[in-house]
Amino acid sequence: MKHVLVTGGAGFIGSNFVHYLLEHTDVSVTVLDKLTYAGNRESLAGLDGNRFRLVVGDICDAVLVDSLVSEVDAVVHYAAESHNDNSLHDPKPFVETNIIGTFTLLEAVRKHSVRFHHISTDEVYGDLELDDPERFSESTPYNPSSPYSSTKAGSDLLVRAWVRSFGLAATLSNCSNNYGPYQHVEKFIPRQITNVIDGIRPKLYGVGENVRDWIHADDHSSAVWTILNRGRVGETYLIGADGEKNNKDVIETILSIMGKPAGSFDHVTDRPGHDLRYAIDSTKLRTELGWVPEYANFEAGLEATVAWYRDHESWWRPQKDATEAKYVAQGQ
Ligand code: NAD
Ligand code: DAU
Repeated sequence: MKHVLVTGGAGFIGSNFVHYLLEHTDVSVTVLDKLTYAGNRESLAGLDGNRFRLVVGDICDAVLVDSLVSEVDAVVHYAAESHNDNSLHDPKPFVETNIIGTFTLLEAVRKHSVRFHHISTDEVYGDLELDDPERFSESTPYNPSSPYSSTKAGSDLLVRAWVRSFGLAATLSNCSNNYGPYQHVEKFIPRQITNVIDGIRPKLYGVGENVRDWIHADDHSSAVWTILNRGRVGETYLIGADGEKNNKDVIETILSIMGKPAGSFDHVTDRPGHDLRYAIDSTKLRTELGWVPEYANFEAGLEATVAWYRDHESWWRPQKDATEAKYVAQGQ
């Protein structure tokens, strides 16, 4: 593999993957990204121009997609509308990018016989009770809750159908909640860190018992690279690092890292249809492909993430006020 097309490579997880590829491999990288509100060229600043280029464009643009796919050995597909809260207020871009965009890519990789890896989410499986002893696995039935997760589920099913019907050389992965550098301030962890920096109390939806299974974005990248190289075509792999925490505990940990008193946060209006708990069983990925996460300690990873946001205010500052104003208008 010499040249990889990364869709959505100016977003949070996509940009972390691009940094990972340039640091840990020899491949050249083309990023295709529309630079929506969630994309940021600054996340790719300073990368080696001999091995990297950014093409600004839409994954729904079949002519552009066909031409870029014809140049590469593999496509790793991150581009998506990714935020659940946004999907509750304006679902249409989610259907367009997540469904039509994925379809457009599938037709191009089919035509050019290019290896494809589809990035998806644990949210396609719905949610778990707090005391459920089972976690999500590759055989858990699909049961998405939100417009976001239903469009991701739809895109997964398209990929599986293209594998079965057309023999596409594709793999899929469904990962749990990521944290780390370059995450937009609309998301839970960066919102709270940047609120504390700005002297605003963190905002907890509802009572805060909802559990997410946190993984560092670097561990997601190493898992995707492992699957792209050694995964079995047609297979799905769940990615997770045994990082279950409830939202209240995460806010308390951020407050403690940032030297603020325990309990100095606000409860705000809950998200409609809010999934209660996600939890990943990543046994297949670990036993079949030998993948292990590096960030075993969530609190240490969170400390590094707090430090990154303190050190990179110029990266997040332009989005902060408008993002916070939108939440306040929604009662959140
Ligand atoms: P993000 O919102 O930070 O980034 C999405 C990127 O896609 C942005 O750069 C945006 O400009 C680009 N994009 C959006 N629409 C596009 C279009 N039509 N054409 C081209 N580019 C477009 O998202 P993220 O959190 O980095 O998530 C990336 C992928 O990983 C998504 O597929 C998401 O479903 C999946 N995922 C995310 C998480 C998480 O915790 N954030 C966990 C599991 C899976
Ligand atoms: O599980 C993987 C998914 O994780 C990805 O597919 C999504 O793209 C990604 O956005 C994320 O979805 P969540 O909805 O879990 O992430 P979010 O950061 O929006 O919220 C995390 C939890 O924190 C969730 O229970 C809602 C809660 N929350 C969120 C915000 C923004 C708060 O309590 N307060 C907040 O201010």
